[in-house]
Amino acid sequence: MTTDERIGWWINQIRAGNRDGEIGERLKPAADLQPEFARLVIGDWPVVDILDIQCGPLTSLGNRLPGRKVRIRQLEPEAERLERLLSDCGIGSRGDLVAGSPETVQEIWPAPSFDLVVCRQAKWLADPAASLPALYAILRPGGALSVTVSFETAIGRPAWSLRIGAGGLSLCSDGEERPLGEAFFGDGAVVSWRATSGGDAAAAAWVTLEVRKPASRKDTLRRQLEDFSGTVAPLRTLHGVAIEGEDLDFIADFFARKPDGTAGSILPNDAAFLYAWMKKTRPKCVLEIGVSSGVSSAFFLESAERLGLLEHGFRLDSIDLLEHVYAAPDDKVGWVVEAMAGRLASRFNLLTGVTAFDVDRLIGEGKVHRPDLVFLDAEHAHPFPALDLAALCKVMEPDAWILLHDICLFERALRDSYRLKIRPDWMLRGVEWAFEFWPGEKFRGAGEHANVGAVRAVANVEATPAWRALTALPGERSLTPEAAVLLARLEGTA
Ligand SMILES: C[S@@+](CC[C@H](N)C(=O)[O-])C[C@H]1O[C@@H](n2cnc3c(N)ncnc32)[C@H](O)[C@@H]1O
Repeated sequence: MTTDERIGWWINQIRAGNRDGEIGERLKPAADLQPEFARLVIGDWPVVDILDIQCGPLTSLGNRLPGRKVRIRQLEPEAERLERLLSDCGIGSRGDLVAGSPETVQEIWPAPSFDLVVCRQAKWLADPAASLPALYAILRPGGALSVTVSFETAIGRPAWSLRIGAGGLSLCSDGEERPLGEAFFGDGAVVSWRATSGGDAAAAAWVTLEVRKPASRKDTLRRQLEDFSGTVAPLRTLHGVAIEGEDLDFIADFFARKPDGTAGSILPNDAAFLYAWMKKTRPKCVLEIGVSSGVSSAFFLESAERLGLLEHGFRLDSIDLLEHVYAAPDDKVGWVVEAMAGRLASRFNLLTGVTAFDVDRLIGEGKVHRPDLVFLDAEHAHPFPALDLAALCKVMEPDAWILLHDICLFERALRDSYRLKIRPDWMLRGVEWAFEFWPGEKFRGAGEHANVGAVRAVANVEATPAWRALTALPGERSLTPEAAVLLARLEGTA
């Protein structure tokens, strides 16, 4: 069947109003992503990009995957014609039609853009030797290519065919036989294949190739950071901060180097928000409250280095209630700084056994600098985040910013309780309430970034009605062991 015949077939089916069988299935606006393709989608990205090659105007793949948004593009040489056809017939497709041919996909998507590329009818590839590497090239690291092809049947022009030989699956043309992985995909690609089951003799001769592109830890982190794109536009518009691809590369690189065994630390998306605020405010003195293993400390130090703040005398003061990591009593608080950013140790001042309530005194004693940016990631049970904020406002300039971590801790705990059937002991709303009730200027990102936010210090915040409403909310103080330590201190029993 030529391309013209294939497109003509679709036009006839749709014009004839055929709504039965497979066409009827494809007309349903939503369906589960077919299991054979769903299992090829790895990672937990909120958006999954799929390219369906020459599937006609209506993809059959399915567009539902729990907890994710599935975005399908359908590559067709006659996309515009097919689009007009769908619109004339009042039909919607699950995917977007894009005009192009498999050999030249890199002209449409110069950068790797897909988590899955599916070609169910490789016999329609005009030139497999050009199109299969091109389809592989537009896969993101960790992405998969699924190609179904008939055994020992010529595919494309000049004629290529697949054979099983002593060295596994190979590609043959003009008497030449080359291992498939080597012929098409180069180093690192993991090529597997399986016979595609079918009822009749012809179907039994079909094989599906699955090719997985390798992904390094940094690649995976970089992909996770794409979720930050929803926050990049409001950051630029509302706060004049431009976050570029190289900034995200820096963050991915930092987390790729992060040692294992850290506890309660910020995630790459959280770090992107902190970095954006460092870029916006260009602080000289950052105060961090809540250090644990020290991942955020090392991140602030390396960000300051990257942003050229060291030349302006940048310092990080970090304080923590405990001397050891709350989840690992043998680990000293802040150990990651030495492991990752030891060269910046002279810019780092760590104090333990103190809290936000001590900061005023510590500044007076010259042990901590007056901060122009604060990161609060300490006790999360209400009312402690609120009390910490009030204490910090007393030592900060009124227009200075305080960054809050774990604003959507409760929602994350709820998600884990459903997914993992557990009841996390960090199911707390303290930071969320403090942010929501905050009477001053504030900003938070979109998606995963809703977990970090920025509030502006407010002079005399305790006099505001919002504060009274906030502090009237029920306390969560008995919910964590650290809150019990704090409570005992406040009550003078420790
Ligand atoms: C979530 S961890 C901090 C993680 C760290 N910011 C990171 O991203 O790597 C919270 C830390 O806050 C400390 N903490 C708890 N209550 C505190 C308080 N009231 N003041 C200071 N630190 C506190 C705990 O000991 C723990 O080390």
